[in-house]
Amino acid sequence: MSRDTGDNLNRNLSGNVPMDSVLDTFLSRRSVVRGGLGAAIAMIAGTGLSGCFDSGGSDDDDPVVAPPTPAKLKLGFNSIAGSRTDACVVAAGYSAYVLAPWGTPLNSKANPWKADGSNTSTDQLNAVGMHHDGMHFFPINGSSEDGLLAINHEYIDADALHPAGPTSVAGKRPAEEVRKEINAHGAGVIRLKKVSGRWQVVDNDPLNRRFTSATVMNLSGPLRGTNHVKTRFSINGTQARGTNNNCGNGYTPWGTYLTCEENWPGIFINKSATLPADQKRIGVSTSSGNYKWETAAGDASEVNDEFSRFNVTPSGASAIDDYRNEASTYGYIVEIDPYNASTLAVKRTALGRFRHEGCCPGLPVVGKPLVWYMGDDSNNEYLYKFVSTAVWQAADANPADRIATGNKYMDQGKLYVARFNADGSGVWLLLDVNTPTASGQTLGSLYGDLAGIILNTRGAADALGATPMDRPEWTTVNPLNGDVYLTLTNNSARTAAKVDAANPRGPNRHGHIIRWHDSDDHNSFSWDIFVFGANAAGTADINRSGLTELNQFASPDGMSFDSRGILWFQTDNGESSLTSYTNDQMLAVIPTNLVNAAGKQVPINAQNQVDLRRFFVGPNGCEVTGIAFTPDNKSIFVNIQHPDNWPSADLATTATPAGTKVRPRASTVVIQRNDGGEIGV
Ligand code: FEO
Ligand code: CA
Ligand code: CA
Repeated sequence: MSRDTGDNLNRNLSGNVPMDSVLDTFLSRRSVVRGGLGAAIAMIAGTGLSGCFDSGGSDDDDPVVAPPTPAKLKLGFNSIAGSRTDACVVAAGYSAYVLAPWGTPLNSKANPWKADGSNTSTDQLNAVGMHHDGMHFFPINGSSEDGLLAINHEYIDADALHPAGPTSVAGKRPAEEVRKEINAHGAGVIRLKKVSGRWQVVDNDPLNRRFTSATVMNLSGPLRGTNHVKTRFSINGTQARGTNNNCGNGYTPWGTYLTCEENWPGIFINKSATLPADQKRIGVSTSSGNYKWETAAGDASEVNDEFSRFNVTPSGASAIDDYRNEASTYGYIVEIDPYNASTLAVKRTALGRFRHEGCCPGLPVVGKPLVWYMGDDSNNEYLYKFVSTAVWQAADANPADRIATGNKYMDQGKLYVARFNADGSGVWLLLDVNTPTASGQTLGSLYGDLAGIILNTRGAADALGATPMDRPEWTTVNPLNGDVYLTLTNNSARTAAKVDAANPRGPNRHGHIIRWHDSDDHNSFSWDIFVFGANAAGTADINRSGLTELNQFASPDGMSFDSRGILWFQTDNGESSLTSYTNDQMLAVIPTNLVNAAGKQVPINAQNQVDLRRFFVGPNGCEVTGIAFTPDNKSIFVNIQHPDNWPSADLATTATPAGTKVRPRASTVVIQRNDGGEIGV
């Protein structure tokens, strides 16, 4: 979440509260929660681990987990204490280095970063963007020492971006400042190499590139070419300009990056008396854009409506004469081919339009559809998944044309939204024209065609009775068994009267992580809550997982399994019971190690919580977000977003000297073990 641009207002007025009277039922039946073994077996294919989890463990018909054949993986570091300094802290035996901070030149068109904030918009277009977030490492020829870091730049700190903060003259933002802000957003691809044991950015590498809030992209999937997305820029509705507020990320089995558009509604303004339903439901502003980019419209230097496009108030004779549809070209999953700089990014509209947080793929199985899981991060919004029409073919893992492969798997398929039942089961509700709504209509009767449904994905999900969740952030899939995990970061709008089994605390100030396992047919799932965020001194109702000083956390957000089955998650916390103890952090746990006497996976509890360990803490003011791994797991990349007064040295653990004020720079931090071994074990 961008603390400055984030918007967690509850815009869900659907009244979907399907479980608020049945919490007790759930708590008394937790032992029925179990994963779909058949699905797990289909996916694990030789890993030697079962995919079941069970929060009760008393069922004698539960299959017993097969003992892992390799030596059981264990965390090999001790949990560290919290920290509140202008420095990173990492577990003993590890080092953390600053890599690719905001403003690092990617090619010779950019001047070196200047500490006075005076770099130009052209410099910024050719340099690392601001406020790093989700990312993924794409190896070159399988290497763990040479690769491409695809990375999101979620938003900006305008005070740090400009020499003396943002300015305006008579209510208008200067064009050069607006261009610099637009260019600091988006995503990027950065060539990295490890030289003499240290990672470096490869300046001028031909694969280095930036995608900004102005970069031309293709529209693909059900919205492409429809009247919903025709603009003065693209009169046939096939292209869009820019990606914005790119928060979590995903990837594909064919080697492309997925960047997710989250708080993009804030860059637009619609001054109409009545907003289109989709704009109202998702929160397009009626007063002022977050950055007031639209106020630069009419500047003598403006090219191709580069500023006026952020004002989506109808002004022309039709949609192709103005930008009333510009906001309809945002809110998507965007696919980037990091290995081919000649390709355009593609907005994959089939995966829904909302405030996308992340987009994690399920485990690919030959002959089965591909799946991606996606959160919509606002109070009381929903969890979604997309299931491809095409079934996975192994030859597509290394295709000649990755974007064409994306067309194959990501443009046709089924979009679902989740309903969590109180008994630990769940249903995936299909967002399609023939699906009956809770009020006895069909989605087709409400929204016309599939494009209309996708345009107002939230509204369609309302109509189906999906479960409002506590701000769904990232998802990740356990490579050992296909279980899916979702961070629910917090929910100030959840009242005590509106709790349900999947979101059982109101208000939810600390967040929790829920997990599930899909059925083979993708229509249903079984779920449990893996861990509740809490301060260690919290009441029994708050500290439900028995956390201690060494692993207390709140507001889980970024999250990813590594290839070995270690779950890493990160916090974006503003809850005072934790901020008074520690800055934002990253913790690790191996869920398949947490089992009951019958060998079934169980959630984190007072007995096993010692296996949840704090590995890393960021500097004052920051959010720790984004995580990527080299194939050998000997380097882990994490991002430090919006630090207060950091970095001051190459070593990320060097504290900024007292009395020194640096211009803060979001940065990737690369963590390596001092003996060169694998991280975490
Ligand atoms: Fe950008 Fe939902 O965090
Ligand atoms: Ca967040
Ligand atoms: Ca986030």
